Amino acid sequence: MLIARSLVELRQHLQRFERPAFVPTMGNLHDGHLNLIALAKPLGDVTVASIFVNRLQFLPHEDFASYPRTFEDDCDKLRMQGCDVVFAPDETELYPQPQTFKVQPDPALADILEGQFRPGFFTGVCTVVMKLFHAVFAHSGGVAMFGKKDYQQLLVITQMVRQFALPVELVGVETRRSADGLALSSRNRYLSQEERAEAMQLSMALHQLGQAALVCGETLPDCLPQLQEQAMERLRLRGWQPDYLCVRRRLDLQLPLAGDALVVLGAAKLGQTRLIDNLEI
Ligand code: PAF
Repeated sequence: MLIARSLVELRQHLQRFERPAFVPTMGNLHDGHLNLIALAKPLGDVTVASIFVNRLQFLPHEDFASYPRTFEDDCDKLRMQGCDVVFAPDETELYPQPQTFKVQPDPALADILEGQFRPGFFTGVCTVVMKLFHAVFAHSGGVAMFGKKDYQQLLVITQMVRQFALPVELVGVETRRSADGLALSSRNRYLSQEERAEAMQLSMALHQLGQAALVCGETLPDCLPQLQEQAMERLRLRGWQPDYLCVRRRLDLQLPLAGDALVVLGAAKLGQTRLIDNLEI
């Protein structure tokens, strides 16, 4: 497995391939990431993972400094999974100058939900993903894998790829979960033992909210505000600090009308750890 530290090295190596299959990550890999690699392998002629903790997508008070960095361990896992190339630039390689030029996603999609609570987050994500795509797909188009756990991220990147006509086919992959339903996430390692036992309540709350929304039928738009508030209140009573629990239409995450395909999305803090999850219903 090649570990490329520079853009030049990566581009030179990928010259000989026709269809890279790419899995962008921030490292601290879990089974969800390894599943993306396994699914990527048959889709391209070379499998590439990136490991880069992208400062641009963190707010000043967020966990950029403490984000778990486990590079050696990650490389062992990627090697075992049959990954061919790891792109692991340092910050000055991707951002040799302060990044004043940014990719600005559509506020209608990017300033709601996660974007409301993490302003600028999707600008940071789009900017780095654009750079990574230019690096990996410098010579040919290919395929890139994204987990559906970051549902809004997948929609934002889909819109970016479409609007810039990037030669990248996106594949959204189902969320991997622990046996109790907790979505796998690098941030789960911040949870204490007690919090870890409680954490599955988020996916349960989304499931309950989804079921209640489905019962509303035609009256969905009127039902939702109360159902969502009740769902958040139940989590508050258990000691959570929810940012949002809501039902949106899958297509563009706007308020749904009866008959729309739906997704339930949630973000909530448990102690110091902010968890997100979603469920297509
Ligand atoms: O989903 C992630 O891990 C990150 O947002 C990504 C896509 C690697 C960009 O930094």
